[in-house]
Order: sequence, then C-alpha cells, then structure tokens
Amino acid sequence: MLHPEQPRWLVANRLGKEVIDLCDGMRDISAICRVLSRRYGKKPGEIAPDVKAFLESLHEAGLMVEDRPPSQASPDRVSIRGVFLHLTDRCNLRCIHCYVGEGTKAGPDPPADKIHGLIDELADMGGRSITMSGGEPLLRRDWPDIVRHAGERLTVTLNTNGTLVTGSVAGQLAEVGPHIQVSLDGPDPETHDGIRGKGTFASALRGIRALTDAGLGENLILSMTLMKQNISKAPEMIDLAVSLGIPKIRFLPLHRQGRARSSPAALDASLDDYFRWFRHVYLERKAGSGPVEVYGGLIGFLLQAPVEFDEHWCSIGRTIVVDSAGYVHPCALLMDPRFTIGNIGNMRLEQIESSPKLRGLTLACLARSGIIAKCRTCIWRNFCRASCPAFPFLEKGTFRATDDFCDFRQQLYEDAVFTIARRRVQNEESQ
Ligand SMILES: C[S@@+](CC[C@H](N)C(=O)[O-])C[C@H]1O[C@@H](n2cnc3c(N)ncnc32)[C@H](O)[C@@H]1O
Ligand code: SF4
Ligand code: SF4
Repeated sequence: MLHPEQPRWLVANRLGKEVIDLCDGMRDISAICRVLSRRYGKKPGEIAPDVKAFLESLHEAGLMVEDRPPSQASPDRVSIRGVFLHLTDRCNLRCIHCYVGEGTKAGPDPPADKIHGLIDELADMGGRSITMSGGEPLLRRDWPDIVRHAGERLTVTLNTNGTLVTGSVAGQLAEVGPHIQVSLDGPDPETHDGIRGKGTFASALRGIRALTDAGLGENLILSMTLMKQNISKAPEMIDLAVSLGIPKIRFLPLHRQGRARSSPAALDASLDDYFRWFRHVYLERKAGSGPVEVYGGLIGFLLQAPVEFDEHWCSIGRTIVVDSAGYVHPCALLMDPRFTIGNIGNMRLEQIESSPKLRGLTLACLARSGIIAKCRTCIWRNFCRASCPAFPFLEKGTFRATDDFCDFRQQLYEDAVFTIARRRVQNEESQ
C-alpha cells in the first residue's frame, strides 16, 4: 500500500489485503471480523486481535488517511537558508570529471569584501549555512579570514581536495571547527589517481590525517563522485571511511557539466553499476545504521524520503549558488546563463530572494511531478517527486521530462520496499 500523498508505504500479506479491502468506510472492526469469521470458519473473537494489530500497523505507517484537502507545494517556498559559494575557480588539480572546467583559465577570485558582506547578509536574514567550494578553496590566501568570519555566524562546510592540508592548515581550521568535505574518488591510489592525478591519493590521505590529528575527525565527510572508473569500489570506500574513523560519506552522481559534458561515455557508470551500488549501500549496509553515515546523491531514493509532507528533495529556493564571478544561480547544476538570478556585486541577498525569476523557477521545479505525464500516473511519485529537475535539463534540455534514472528508480523502489519487508518478516519469525 502506498500513501496517496506522502512517501509512506506498507507491504501486506493476503489477509492484510482482505482487511484493507473491507475497510470501505461502512464497516467497523467488529463487522470486518464477522466477514472474516464467515470466510475462514473461525470465531470473530479469534480473528479480532490480528485485525486490530494490522490496523494499528496501518496507523503507525501513516496510512490511515483522514479526510482533508490535498496539500499544495508552498507558494512561499523561496527563503534563502544557505549559500554554496565558489571561493575561486583556480585549482591545483585537473580531475577528469570536474564541472568547474579548466582551472588554468580561471578568472580573478571574488573580492573578499563582497564575500564578507554576503556572509553578514545571509546571517542577518536568518540563513543557517554556507558551503565554501571551488576550484580549490584553500588556494585563496585569505581563506582563514573568510572561514573564521563565516564560522562566527553560520554553519560552515569547506569542500577540499585535501592535498593542500598541512598540519598548520589543519590547526587554523580547528580554531573554527567547520565541517570539512574531502574528495576521495577511490579507496586506493590506482582508482583515485586515475581520476585526480598521480600522487593525489597519498596527499589527500596526508591531509585527512592532519585534520584528524588536529581534532577535526568528527567534522570530516568523505565525498566520492560515482563514475564508471570507481563505482564498483564504493564498498571499499565505506570500509576506508570506517578505518579512518570518518563519520560520514557522500556519494555524488556524476552530472554532465564542465569536463564531464564532453565525454559522457568515458565517465558515466552504467545503470547496472548503479543498481549494484544501491543494493550494497542501502540494503546490505543499511545506510545510516553502521558507524558511517552514508548519503547517496541520487535524488529521490527511497530511504532518504522527506519526512515532512511538504518537504521536497530539491533545495531550489532554499539554497543559492554564487560562482567565482559573483553570479547567483538557483543550483550548482543549473549554472546556465538562462537561470542566472543576478550578481552579488550589485544585488543584495534580499533582492535575490524576492526575485520573480527565482520564485518562478522554484515553483516550476516543484510542480514537475504534477505536470509530467509519466510522473502523474507513477505509483512512486510521492517518493521521487519527479526527482532532480536539473538532470533532465542537462540530459535533454528541458525540465518537463523525466531523467535517465527514472525507470531505474521505479525498479529500485519496488526492490527496496520488498527487500525491507522480507527482512522484517524474517526478523520477526526468528524472534
Ligand atoms: C568541484 S569540487 C571543489 C572542491 C575541491 N576542489 C574538491 O575537489 O573537493 C567539489 C566536489 O564536486 C565534485 N564534482 C566535480 N565535478 C563533478 C561532476 N561533473 N559531477 C559530480 N560531481 C562533481 C568533486 O568530485 C568534488 O567532490
Ligand atoms: S574536482 Fe576539485 S580538485 Fe578536482 S579539478 Fe575540480 S575543483 Fe579541482
Ligand atoms: S515517473 Fe520516474 S521521475 Fe516520475 S515520479 Fe515516477 S520514478 Fe520519479
């Protein structure tokens, strides 16, 4: 059974299905028990405890729906809570998949005063978090001032390739205590260096150790972008995170931007690879239950379903991206000039937040599952909510389409729901 509006589900056996069919709004529990007692030649009193227990589990699964009008995506959804900021486009590496493109051609870094102003505006407006990325943000000489200032008012995450993290860098970071996301695209030098360049695995690991030695181990997140070259190594990556004492790992799906756009065939993992990855990460490892918290970046996947009813996977309208030239984009995957909202050089954050362009785009993205014909009739639409709007845009040039993972997700939902249900039954039977 799937909830008509929320990402909730329950797998029933044959008797459960009969009870559900008898819940027609006309019969109470005694009437249901009487029908079943006639069908199975048992006394209603013998059947009643099972029927009550089943109805309770329906209630617990949130599947007893009261009469109320279907909820709509909130029209006030635009409220900027976070900024993803490219501190520079410069980089010391040339990773084969990098969406930032050619680091050598990078323009000047955004001026420090604009960045400090942005941090203050965000905090004044009630914003909560800032992610500093690049390029390689540690190439900026003034990164310590920026991180320190942001850390006084916001939750800070720094995305780094880890290769420039020395003991002294780690010490300065420890004074602020940001979350630090270090990219490792493989659990061994062959895989990682094949993507990020010779010697980079060793230097990233040195960086990680320096951060751990400085007391930042708990703040670390490993990040692996899934590609043909490394997706089969995901299980070893989780083992590596465990052995390094890193509490979180994030798997990002590759998106076709920058260097990854010109050669998708050379980088894209196959759907079979993704399927094995999903089964391993979510079903065998039971993501979230081990010592390492695992985030899978494939938006719309079952086990990360939003909890609140009007929550949506997509952070559009909640987070903006500021590139190294100061241009504001609705999302890191939608940095196409057509969607540019403005520039922090001449626009205040408040103006960006009230921009009709941002509002229109946000609402259009959130409404997709009610617009795309295939999604409207898809039984998994409340889990998936038409998934990430940017993927079909990058793949097909439109938001009004499903992405290349759509059929795959449908298969995964079904597989995951029945695997979890079977496991629960086995657990109950063994107790
Ligand atoms: C652009 S980098 C910037 C920070 C830093 N230089 C680093 O490598 O972590 C941030 C993250 O984006 C990931 N990334 C780069 N290009 C990507 C792409 N085409 N698709 C998905 N993720 C990508 C990187 O692997 C990295 O984990
Ligand atoms: S992924 Fe990070 S380290 Fe690699 S080239 Fe891009 S910005 Fe540089
Ligand atoms: S049709 Fe595809 S994209 Fe749409 S809701 Fe279903 S699984 Fe998601």
